[in-house]
Amino acid sequence: MLEVDGLVGGYDGTQVLHGLSLHVEAGATTALLGGNGAGKTTLMKTLAGLLPVRAGRLRFLGEDITQRPSNERVHAGLVLVPEGRMVFPSLTVRENLRLGAINPRARPQWQRSLDRVFHLFPRLLERESQPAVTLSGGEQQMLAIGRGLMAQPRLMLLDEPTLGLSPLMARQIFELAQRLVADGLTLLLAEQDVFQSLNAAEHAYVIENGRVAAEGPARQIADDPRIRQAYLGL
Ligand SMILES: Nc1ncnc2c1ncn2[C@@H]1O[C@H](COP(=O)(O)OP(=O)(O)O)[C@@H](O)[C@H]1O
Ligand SMILES: [Mg+2]
Repeated sequence: MLEVDGLVGGYDGTQVLHGLSLHVEAGATTALLGGNGAGKTTLMKTLAGLLPVRAGRLRFLGEDITQRPSNERVHAGLVLVPEGRMVFPSLTVRENLRLGAINPRARPQWQRSLDRVFHLFPRLLERESQPAVTLSGGEQQMLAIGRGLMAQPRLMLLDEPTLGLSPLMARQIFELAQRLVADGLTLLLAEQDVFQSLNAAEHAYVIENGRVAAEGPARQIADDPRIRQAYLGL
């Protein structure tokens, strides 16, 4: 579904991604592992078109999107649910969700998408008229994922969805993510909980210093002694 070939990118004056290559298979979860500062968020922002590609190539659903602006990527079905959730604090739950559906492919079906999101997250329906700032961290994460779903994604880039959440809430978010994949969504997941994330994923990439340090089937990565020592503390 997504092919990343030799990606170089970063911020003004700071190169973070040094020729990174990976691919994401349709209909499954691919996990991005790696310590703080490895470049996972930078990669996701670059895939979403929020940071420029300095070199390398991105293909999504067979099309070259390397130079496409972010709104066209959303329109094509490549949707980022950013680290830190980034909901609009003073807008209501419903208004935040509605904004997820502004791309031309999603807009005509926003009402149906909204019903689906409220069905997935009854808690958001109960709070639909509340400003997002009044939600708990877990509810804000649900809102961020819900807003992403409103865009009718084919591939969702899900960056650190359980950061700062209680173990119970984190488990609910993981269960939800797996349910979405079972319903046909493809997921690229960056997640600090390596154990959970390898459990949920079919394939995994370990990112170190903006490069792929290891990759393979999630089960094989989970059994790799170096990975176990570095990321699982085993
Ligand atoms: N806005 C920014 N400007 C410059 N450097 C940044 C910025 N955001 C992150 N970085 C740097 O990019 C590197 C990768 O960070 P990031 O992609 O956030 O890693 P991860 O998500 O894997 O923790 C780090 O060295 C970080 O300091
Ligand atoms: Mg990050």
